Amino acid sequence: MAGAAQHAHWSSRWAFIMAAVGSAVGLGNIWKFPYEAGQGGGGAFVMVYLLFVFFIGTPMLVAELSLGRRGQLSPIGSMKKIAQEEKRSPLWGLIGWSGVVGAFIVISFYSVVGGWTLAYMVKSAMGAFSNIDAQTAQDTFVSYISNPVMTLVSHFAFMGITIFIVAKGVQGGLEKAVTYLMPALFAILLVLVVYSGFTGDFAKTVDFLFNPDFDELLYKANSPEAIAAGGATKVFSLDMVLQALGQSFFSLSLALGSIMTYGSYLTRDVNVGRSALTIAAADSSVALMAGLAIFPIVFAYGLDVAEGGGLVFMSLPIAFGQMPFGIVVGTLFFGLLAVAAITSSISLLEPPVSYVEEKTGWNRRKVAITMGVAAGVLGVLSAYSQGDNMLSSISIFGLSIMDAKDFLTNNIIMPLGGLFTALFVGWFVSRKAMMEELAMEDKTFRIWYFLARFVSPTAIGIIFIKIIYDTVVG
Ligand code: TRP
Repeated sequence: MAGAAQHAHWSSRWAFIMAAVGSAVGLGNIWKFPYEAGQGGGGAFVMVYLLFVFFIGTPMLVAELSLGRRGQLSPIGSMKKIAQEEKRSPLWGLIGWSGVVGAFIVISFYSVVGGWTLAYMVKSAMGAFSNIDAQTAQDTFVSYISNPVMTLVSHFAFMGITIFIVAKGVQGGLEKAVTYLMPALFAILLVLVVYSGFTGDFAKTVDFLFNPDFDELLYKANSPEAIAAGGATKVFSLDMVLQALGQSFFSLSLALGSIMTYGSYLTRDVNVGRSALTIAAADSSVALMAGLAIFPIVFAYGLDVAEGGGLVFMSLPIAFGQMPFGIVVGTLFFGLLAVAAITSSISLLEPPVSYVEEKTGWNRRKVAITMGVAAGVLGVLSAYSQGDNMLSSISIFGLSIMDAKDFLTNNIIMPLGGLFTALFVGWFVSRKAMMEELAMEDKTFRIWYFLARFVSPTAIGIIFIKIIYDTVVG
């Protein structure tokens, strides 16, 4: 534990909040949330999502922040140390391990998509979307992700920025970056919401996002064959509800050590409960604002709300190519995505870096470069698995390399990590120790404890069983 003595801290509560909100707000909010809401029928998905964020995600934020702060080490070091203090098995350290390894895998492909946002920012600025039609927009995207040189350059450019910031340390790197980037992010988002509100179909968007239609959320068409045969009926399905739970975890940066590591840089005077609420509120506000920025354009230009992952990269450019000031708006939009992605990717590189730093005692610069380049190389496999790129023919259980890593982290590592974290704080750390660590009012503590002890593990357990069932049976 060579680095433990000089373990860094945030310089203020504000700096910490900015960094944590920066971690939470990312591609998950601006790229994933709108298209998932689109597929889940809009308002009903949004409502269920918000319930999960506040009743399951926020208590988990509290759990991770408090574990990190109590341990004052990397997720692995903290978990081992707390398990020992509580006279529990050192195997609880596996929660730290799954976080650190999971974060390493996620950054490797998060950076690929981060690279796409950089490339699309440049494309937009160069006027590449002027008057393109749907076919050209699709061809543009597919030919870009199929290009081994372009995708390599953009992926390493993105990873390079991430390494640069992480190498400069907690106060000199992370804090400094977020204090510039987060206000920029909010400003751009606001400009885009206002622009969309005036030029796009705002009324329809508000109706879509806030007027819940639970049929859309809870039923899906029974099967493609039945639809083709003209006999489409709808069957009950919890798929989108579980999707909303997974998305709430991803969006809050839970279960991969990001939040626990950021918690380890906290001092004892910060109120963890209040901070968690602030982070969750800011994160959901940005997701909703992203929806308010994107859907007016989607509706005004007749794009498909249920388009999926291509919504941002294949549909929106069509609109940017036609709208007044489209070059500026498009460039700002992809710049916004890039900024959001960078402040998240630093929090994904941070858990592995803090662990290796602690273990080896190397200086931070060396660790950041080593881990960043290693993750970058692993990421090339993901980058090249897309479109017609060099590794696109490789299939792991029917998934591309990128999708396989996404499946492993999102569907296995994250739910298991979340489940065991909830069980740990709820059942294996003494109630008294948790109470002292959180220093909450009695009533607030009891609500948190109930949610962490019973509600979170049950909900996460259900989602995990469902995933395994679908994988094995479906
Ligand atoms: N929350 C980020 C987003 O919404 C991504 C992210 C950063 C993340 N750190 C994480 C996701 C840790 C899960 C776990 O894009």
